[in-house]
Amino acid sequence: MGDTTTTDLLAAGKRYYVPVYKPRETILERGAGSRVWDRDGKEYVDFGAGIAVCGLGHCDPDLVAALTGQAGKLWHTSNVFYSEPPLRLAEELVNASRFAARVFLCNSGAEANEAAIKLARKWAAAQGRPPQKRVIVTFRGSFHGRTLAAVTATAQPKYQEGYEPLPGGFRYVDFNDLAQVEAEFAQGDVAAVLVEPIQGEGGVMPAAAGFLRGLRTLCDRHDALLLLDEIQCGMGRTGALFAHWRDGIQPDVVTLAKALGGGFPIGAMLAGPKVAEVMQFGAHGTTFGGNPLAAAVARVALRKLASAEIAANVERQSAALSAGLESINAGLNVFDGVRGRGLMLGAVLADAHKGKAGAILDHAARQGLLLLQAGPDVLRFVPALNITDRDVAEGLTRLALALRAFLGA
Ligand SMILES: Cc1ncc(COP(=O)(O)O)c(C=O)c1O
Repeated sequence: MGDTTTTDLLAAGKRYYVPVYKPRETILERGAGSRVWDRDGKEYVDFGAGIAVCGLGHCDPDLVAALTGQAGKLWHTSNVFYSEPPLRLAEELVNASRFAARVFLCNSGAEANEAAIKLARKWAAAQGRPPQKRVIVTFRGSFHGRTLAAVTATAQPKYQEGYEPLPGGFRYVDFNDLAQVEAEFAQGDVAAVLVEPIQGEGGVMPAAAGFLRGLRTLCDRHDALLLLDEIQCGMGRTGALFAHWRDGIQPDVVTLAKALGGGFPIGAMLAGPKVAEVMQFGAHGTTFGGNPLAAAVARVALRKLASAEIAANVERQSAALSAGLESINAGLNVFDGVRGRGLMLGAVLADAHKGKAGAILDHAARQGLLLLQAGPDVLRFVPALNITDRDVAEGLTRLALALRAFLGA
């Protein structure tokens, strides 16, 4: 870097990136656990974990060892050869999942959902259903990724505008409204339902009690597939390895990404016995999916995120975070309430502050807290699942300072 200043780097970001992002004006340089430092030495508590990705915090020593160990052996083979890390990872995912028979490894959440969408279509086709009877129902407020099919599944116009023509065969209903889903099934053309057990980008909105079970019943009655997008809410975030476990249902497909690689890019589509054989040789593929480096890291991430210690810490820190948010709010009255589960919590801004989440995030960063929003009205808390008592307490102290500055501004 030599004499390059932070200002130079920020200018380069503005000059050279396709301007689809608006990153905060700081250059993050290193992280350890739930603390991050920028190149000017400022320290932050991290309540965002790279959007629910760094489930074990930054530079977890076991993940570093897995990555560096594999880096000295074999980086890439492509899928015309086997290597051990992805083979083992697939086996471990099947065993951990309690439902899956097979796994397709890819590189991101959007790709995992793309695979799930293609699998649902292929399954319906194999049953002799014509293209117009291969409809996939998704939910308003959902987020499933940015590829053309995933963004079409994403029932939010702001992500779709200008990308028309969108692929056909998707219909949208209100989240948590089983009657609307039933009405879609009544049209006789639905092949699958795709749903997040907790909507993430849509505002940290959990499925209501009984909703997933109701979807399972409807899918069974109408011979359709239930596809769960656990890309954000899975991998231990709710206190269980898979968010749907507490609903006592068996999905047909679950998609994963984000925390599966602990910060190294990887995605996975887990397929249950009914659909595991649907895609045969040549039906789908990817150059990088199941890359040995990614898989070596993900094996360790999976083992650690599935542990009783992590589940216990999620419960403990979820309680601490919720209690801390309530106590801050008792004095300041900025939130209408806190919703979500485990370490996926959303503080919903009160009417007087609606639309101001971005401004609060600015104050938080100034106080040394990395915080996310989920839409303009919700502060989103998705820290590392191994975050410590001390980091939660310090993050809450900084949040209170940020909110006071926001209210005084
Ligand atoms: C629930 C959900 N599905 C899919 C995606 C897309 O994942 P990726 O950005 O890795 O493509 C995201 C990303 O935020 C997500 O939260």
